[in-house]
Amino acid sequence: MHHFFISLSIIVGYAGTGAGDSPKVVFEKRILPIFKSPNPSSCTECHLANLDLKNYILPTSEKTFLSLRDQGLVDMKEPGKSKILKFISMKDNSSKPDLILAKTREEEFKAFSEWIKACCEDESLRAMPKLKIEELGLPEKPIAIVRHARKDRLLESFEQNIWAMRFRCMNCHTAGHPDSIKLQKEHGDRVAWFKKTPSETMDHILGKTKLIDLESPEKSLLLLKPLNEVKHGGGKKFIMGDLGYQAFRNWIEDYTRIRGGAYKTASDLPREINNQTQFGTELWFKITNTPADWGDKLLRTTIYMWDEKLGDWEKAPIAVSDRLVWGKGKTWQHTVTVMASKGSERETAWKKTGPTLLPGKYKVVVQIDKDGDLTKVWNAKLDEKTTTVGTGEFRANWRPGYGQMTSIDAANITSK
Ligand code: HEC
Ligand code: HEC
Repeated sequence: MHHFFISLSIIVGYAGTGAGDSPKVVFEKRILPIFKSPNPSSCTECHLANLDLKNYILPTSEKTFLSLRDQGLVDMKEPGKSKILKFISMKDNSSKPDLILAKTREEEFKAFSEWIKACCEDESLRAMPKLKIEELGLPEKPIAIVRHARKDRLLESFEQNIWAMRFRCMNCHTAGHPDSIKLQKEHGDRVAWFKKTPSETMDHILGKTKLIDLESPEKSLLLLKPLNEVKHGGGKKFIMGDLGYQAFRNWIEDYTRIRGGAYKTASDLPREINNQTQFGTELWFKITNTPADWGDKLLRTTIYMWDEKLGDWEKAPIAVSDRLVWGKGKTWQHTVTVMASKGSERETAWKKTGPTLLPGKYKVVVQIDKDGDLTKVWNAKLDEKTTTVGTGEFRANWRPGYGQMTSIDAANITSK
């Protein structure tokens, strides 16, 4: 009896193929079922669109092997080191393991290992001439689009666009923060959607929530709530076209295009416009005694740091912010987003220990969206010439927290 069960399990484990089977037999029994399966392949854990293991499988064993061989995805000397097997064994360690994909991966790996080994043992198959380029089994879209649709790329963009803006949502949505815990008791766990890390937060948003509307990205709750177009417990936190709205919307638009297959050629991809990395902070900046005609308009501050060595202002801004001026209170105040050039020492330091601004001399350029251009076209650029109302210099210690704002009197912001 015992013996019978053991041999049965071996048969099931190998799905009916055994050592010495021809590549063709192994292909039909093990690879074709992967091709015909309606389930996504393990690749989709990281390649969010435009790439699937199925893209590499052609109707016959011979064609599939030659196609992989010609693309350098098979190591004929050491089949076990084939690149296609490396791709199959890649796992996303930043997320909670997906058990279904893990099982799929294991099956793909066994099937491809066995089939590639059988192919590599077939001398006549190895020696066959190259396929024509148009015969290769490849993802349909150009490689630039395959690369753009990777989860690690999307996460990088998430950090820049959403994570860096989290202090605009104060701590109401920060899981574990007392402000959030209080609101959770009233409104449920859905309030705590900013998790400990960018990666957990993105997984949460893209997981079971309904915060993103794939059909109409501009109607996503992630935008309509802070705009208070859908009644929001936190009130109006975004103005159409402000930096927070633009950042959230950019990321949401990109994600829905990736998912919807809207990118067809490399020129459709969003262009990298900012060569600085952004970080959110709890450093507050305030302008007091704002003139009446700034009242209730969107005001943007762009801050530059003095470079002692250079004896001049740094070329690139170090912080930005924007928000409506409180006309009645003659005040403008908000947290700033700080920025460091990509690849700079400052960027490396901030990534390690968190962003800080050194005490010293700073300059602020103030722009006002007088005509409400941004509310008309959400991704419009504020025209420097027509919207700049003045520049002011100040000294600052930049201590974090609402109680320790860096402040400048509007009388010191002049248009020279
Ligand atoms: C854990 C995440 C992850 C999984 C799962 C994954 N990949 Fe990738 N893939 C990446 C990353 C990251 C890169 C870019 C860096 C690199 O080439 O190693 C990449 C690059 C590639 C490239 C090279 C494209 C280029 O830029 O030239 C191909 C082809 C590819 N993957 C195919 C696959 C296939 C096929 C699968 C499934 C069998 C798969 N990948 C599974 C993360 C993943
Ligand atoms: C003062 C506290 C507060 C601030 C600040 C705040 N919110 Fe909220 N938000 C709430 C509360 C309370 C709820 C739950 C009630 C509701 O759905 O409106 C909520 C709900 C939400 C929801 C719906 C969550 C879900 O899963 O249903 C989204 C999305 C949201 N807020 C986005 C934002 C964004 C983006 C910001 C910052 C730009 C922000 N909120 C700032 C208090 C706040």
